[in-house]
Amino acid sequence: MQAVILVGGEGTRLRPLTYGTPKPMVPLFGVPFLERTIVRLREAGVNEVILAAGYLPQAIIDHFGDGSTVGLRVTYVLEKAPLGTAGALRNVADRLTGAFFVLNGDVLTSLDLRAMLAYHNDKGGEGVIHAIRVDDPSAFGCLVHDGTGRIARFVEKPPRAEAPTDEINAGTYLLERSVLDRIPSGRAVSIERETFPELLAAGGRLYAYTTDDYWLDVGRPEQYVQAHSDVLDGKLVLPSSHHASSGTVFAVPSPQAPPNLHPPAFVGAGVTIDPSAVVGPYAIVGDGCRIGAGAHVRNSILWDGVAIEAGAQVSDAILASNVTVGKGAIVRAGAVIGHDASIAAGRVLEPQARIAAGD
Ligand code: GTP
Repeated sequence: MQAVILVGGEGTRLRPLTYGTPKPMVPLFGVPFLERTIVRLREAGVNEVILAAGYLPQAIIDHFGDGSTVGLRVTYVLEKAPLGTAGALRNVADRLTGAFFVLNGDVLTSLDLRAMLAYHNDKGGEGVIHAIRVDDPSAFGCLVHDGTGRIARFVEKPPRAEAPTDEINAGTYLLERSVLDRIPSGRAVSIERETFPELLAAGGRLYAYTTDDYWLDVGRPEQYVQAHSDVLDGKLVLPSSHHASSGTVFAVPSPQAPPNLHPPAFVGAGVTIDPSAVVGPYAIVGDGCRIGAGAHVRNSILWDGVAIEAGAQVSDAILASNVTVGKGAIVRAGAVIGHDASIAAGRVLEPQARIAAGD
């Protein structure tokens, strides 16, 4: 079984995290998000993953290589210019041999892919779209289907009061190769706005596979933080990866945890925490971070090599690799700090601050 993962987006909403790191390589508990997804595919019986990439692809290629470290074959098809979600599939068509999974690269879900395949084999249409129910569908594409699951129409981002259903396209598909014939080549094409609606108009059969799985589109900083909180709260169990042993989750108070670490929290390898610092709850502290005397870190994500100097306070923030927060500085309320940036001693950041290196 093959799977295509769409990883060509620029990830603008996660800037400045995505200036140097493509969104699929953004870490989730110290392991690239994409690795978590690929391991889940392997566990579902997928033996080849094709990455449709374009933005900062080398970081992805350097990490996964031929896929041997993640236990399946990984190949790459690079786009010179973004081809859109369907154009990217058309671009990999000659690699696909039969029915295949398609995943948006930024979806975190507990969806059972084997069950989805069984559902598709039972229905026998041209494809299946994973659907989930949300309270407010206005930011998503709604799927309207009949009692058999057959999709009648798509409604993109309806005003909340006019939404025809609470079931939305959750970004995982299982498609027959015949779908590829409907995608024009050589230009950007959207699968949600063009290919799927055109397929229905031509009498094709697409089915919704509606589940109540954990599901989160990790495209914005708030959702990225939520993904970590949800795992710490036990709402989602992540598949383990070959890197997973590099850090420890402390879900509850533990004799192994330093007394000044307040669970739930995650601590990577080689972390130093001063005995007078306070870390947690909901602190994700990547490999090699240093937390100085009297510093506080809570409800925040620190990538690798971050230094929090004495007396600094970090709350409700995301700090990318090798950020330094100077003595007594305050980083708070939705701040997102890019790689290698330094926050000067004593500086107090505005809520929602976005700081890149050199700012
Ligand atoms: P934003 O810029 O923050 O909207 O993020 P994004 O660029 O990732 O766009 P979006 O979240 O809408 O994309 C959903 C998924 O499709 C992500 O996994 C993207 O990497 C992927 N994607 C979007 N456009 C393209 C494209 O043109 N080519 C490929 N290969 N993937 C794409």
